[in-house]
Amino acid sequence: EVSHVILTGGIGSRLWPLSRQSKPKQYLEIFSEKSLFEMAIERNRLFSKQLIIVGNRSNQELSKKILRKLDLNNFLNIVESTPRNTAPAIAFAALSADPEDILLVTPADHIIEEGENYTTAVQKAIELAEKDFLVTFGVQPAVPETGYGYIEFNDDKVLSFREKPDKQSAESFLKAGNFLWNSGMFCFKAGVYLNELQKFAPEVYHLSFQAWQAAEEGYLDFDVSRNIPSISVDYAVMEKSDRIKVVPANFKWSDMGSFEAVYEYFKSQGYTTDSNANMQLGEIKPTFFVGLNNCILISTKDANLVVSKEASQDVKMIYSYLEQNY
Ligand code: GDD
Ligand code: MG
Repeated sequence: EVSHVILTGGIGSRLWPLSRQSKPKQYLEIFSEKSLFEMAIERNRLFSKQLIIVGNRSNQELSKKILRKLDLNNFLNIVESTPRNTAPAIAFAALSADPEDILLVTPADHIIEEGENYTTAVQKAIELAEKDFLVTFGVQPAVPETGYGYIEFNDDKVLSFREKPDKQSAESFLKAGNFLWNSGMFCFKAGVYLNELQKFAPEVYHLSFQAWQAAEEGYLDFDVSRNIPSISVDYAVMEKSDRIKVVPANFKWSDMGSFEAVYEYFKSQGYTTDSNANMQLGEIKPTFFVGLNNCILISTKDANLVVSKEASQDVKMIYSYLEQNY
């Protein structure tokens, strides 16, 4: 049995002010007439018997609205009381499944080209997951992006997994040629994931288990949850495990994680920039960039952001301040 686990607890802090706590990026309809969340569900419906949503209190109504629209009734809704990042989020889904069930774990904020290549990759991943591997999907890297994980490979062997390297390392990975970007999608048996988590991050495993045990009607216990170390699956398990496999992701893939990625996506869709490669997003109005190159202006009803493309990862750092004030 394959379950699709959709992780939708992120707030999209790097996309402020487009993405807000009240409406995170995965629910926005700015990339197409469907939200990224809806597209992720539709894309993976084919492969899975059940949908497991791991989200939070503030976005569960947004999720449910889309499920009603899709007329999807067979889903399990896991509601976090406080975000603890993806290692615990996946643990909650795994604990709710049969240990032999295969979980196809996907983020809610990607744009992926569906079709034969996507289907082939997922099917290959499921086959490997059946053999007790933790499967990643490797994307051909285009630039030395520091916001992604990198998978070092040799033929079909994974040599190492390196989450969010510094710029220098990312550059050396691209030069070396045998590194792929981690797409952020995973496929493994629920039981295999929990074993690896217990082995490499025992505290995360034990506290996640306790929070899950103390859950009521899908709502995870707050008092236990707040003590779970906040750590992503990439650092907690993928960097450590020797059961990792990679399936080539020969499909178009974009993570709408930062304004740089959004910029590149819109550019590929024919959006225009000025002659110094500046772009405006959001509420478009007559705007002039003077003496600026590679800048993005994001304009919304109540807040504006001007960011230089290469600094787009830094928006995260000002988010908590900004969110409190706007
Ligand atoms: N339920 C839940 N709870 N979901 C979460 C939480 C949480 O606490 N934190 C993040 N998520 C969701 C996000 O909404 C997103 O859909 C997904 O999990 C991934 O989280 P991100 O925060 O977007 O991760 P990232 O982009 O920094 O890094 C990951 O994705 C990259 C590719 O997009 C890593 O897997 C990298 O290795 C990878 O390259
Ligand atoms: Mg992301």
